[in-house]
Amino acid sequence: MPYDLVVIGSGPGGYVCAIRAAQLGMKVAVVEKEKTFGGTCLNIGCIPSKALLHASERYEEAGHMLARMGVNVGTPKLDLPAMMTFKDEGVDGNVKGVAFLFKKNKIDSYIGAGRITAPGKVEVARNGKAETLDAKAIVIATGSDVARLKGIDIDEKRIVSSTGALVLDKVPERLLVVGAGVIGLELGSVWRRLGSEVIVVEFLDRILPGMDADVCRQFQRLLQKQGMTFRLSSKVTGVDASGNRLKAQVEPAAGGTAETIEADVVLVAIGRVPYTTGLGLEAAGVATDERGRVVVNRNYETSVHDIFAIGDVIAGPMLAHKAEEEGVAVAEFLDGQAGHVNYDVIPNVVYTFPELASVGKTEEELKAAGVAYNVGKFPFTANGRAKVNHTTDGFVKILADAKTDRVLGVHILGADAGNMIAEAAIAMEFGAAAEDIARTCHAHPTLPEAVKEAALAVAGRAINM
Ligand code: FAD
Ligand code: NAI
Repeated sequence: MPYDLVVIGSGPGGYVCAIRAAQLGMKVAVVEKEKTFGGTCLNIGCIPSKALLHASERYEEAGHMLARMGVNVGTPKLDLPAMMTFKDEGVDGNVKGVAFLFKKNKIDSYIGAGRITAPGKVEVARNGKAETLDAKAIVIATGSDVARLKGIDIDEKRIVSSTGALVLDKVPERLLVVGAGVIGLELGSVWRRLGSEVIVVEFLDRILPGMDADVCRQFQRLLQKQGMTFRLSSKVTGVDASGNRLKAQVEPAAGGTAETIEADVVLVAIGRVPYTTGLGLEAAGVATDERGRVVVNRNYETSVHDIFAIGDVIAGPMLAHKAEEEGVAVAEFLDGQAGHVNYDVIPNVVYTFPELASVGKTEEELKAAGVAYNVGKFPFTANGRAKVNHTTDGFVKILADAKTDRVLGVHILGADAGNMIAEAAIAMEFGAAAEDIARTCHAHPTLPEAVKEAALAVAGRAINM
């Protein structure tokens, strides 16, 4: 009997797709080439990075904030191996959770590299042996891999990608980060808190391209206040690893005189690329675009009938929750339902301190599209809870359509912004006006009151400002 569905890859896209399909009564198998399930996100991405962000934030807090609150614990001492164990335990709990869910939903799992040998045929290779699974439908959920810089060899010891930066065995005296994107800022924050001097080299003239520029300017100032240094409009053209210390060549992005910056570790974080190695796409006739992404239609079907693709391996933001939504949509589509993902409402969170969270359009996007909008801003310095917590950095910014008041974008810089953005996402999914948020009773004293106040500010009637 063929499987109704064979999913290749067990990351957030693949495992969620498999579970939803099994819930809908399909006979499902998942093929995963690594020893554990959960993909990049659970093994070497979202989960371990958040564990280190959480632990390092507590470490910094213990050194700087606890005494101010009257909690004297003395000078905190870093036990890096214990912190790594804390992280590994979190990863272990999560990957075991996926294995449990596969069993619970009667999903067969195959550990081995999957290759599509023909429509409806997936070969699984492991330790020199191969077996072929028959499938009515195949979902490619093979994710992404680190983007590399020409001439800079990542050894994952001194010149690292995010994967190596999550397992360093000592705190580098100086960490040079290439790329002021989300990985650079999150993992840069981790190692700065643990004692590294962190220098971030960014090709563009701003950090976090694609996020609201006004919010990012303020964010950069806060990161600088914490001790991070930025070299914007600059590029790293090479790293000499022959000596005890690495020597990175840094040049203006537009070209010009190079200078050498020494570092103990260089973190290359310039983006990720779709991963399709060994999948047999060309032979199977599955089309990819100029960036190597699998091309899909609005039902996530590739150029070959009954072969689908989701997550980082297709176009769109490389985010775990985006991959998950697409996984659910494909499973429901295969069940004859109308699977759908609203790409206008995908939250994006940078888990630094403060956090930066956004959903919907930026001011730059609205301007470029010629949409007239009103802005409501509210700073955390005017929020009661933030004041008592001494976490007053940042603000909430709401962009609403000038004619209809419909919320078009929400950007939050502040403690716990990642949790607060869910309210904005729900409001936008229901087509809320700023006035709807403004007239919703928010508990006091809470940080989300700043969201309500920003919504009031859209109409120029914030109360506490
Ligand atoms: P993946 O998670 O990459 O999973 C693909 C799986 O397919 C892998 O397990 C791989 O081994 C397997 N595979 C590949 N080829 C084959 C094959 N031929 N046969 C069998 N198996 C195969 N996103 C967020 O939303 N929030 C975050 O906080 C966040 N933090 C991140 C931190 C870091 C350091 C990194 C690197 C990424 C982070 N991301 C985060 C991004 C997130 O990890 C990805 O968007 C997400 O994992 C994509 O899911 P996916 O299912 O498409 O692919
Ligand atoms: P990114 O795309 O977020 O940032 C890469 C940065 O590197 C950009 O600012 C870019 O301008 C810069 N850059 C590119 N080439 C350069 C060069 N040669 N020299 C200097 N700078 C250069 O990519 P990043 O940070 O590697 O993350 C990869 C993906 O992982 C992201 O797209 C993100 O979606 C996902 N991720 C998400 C997280 C989250 O949601 N919290 C956390 C970590 C990763």
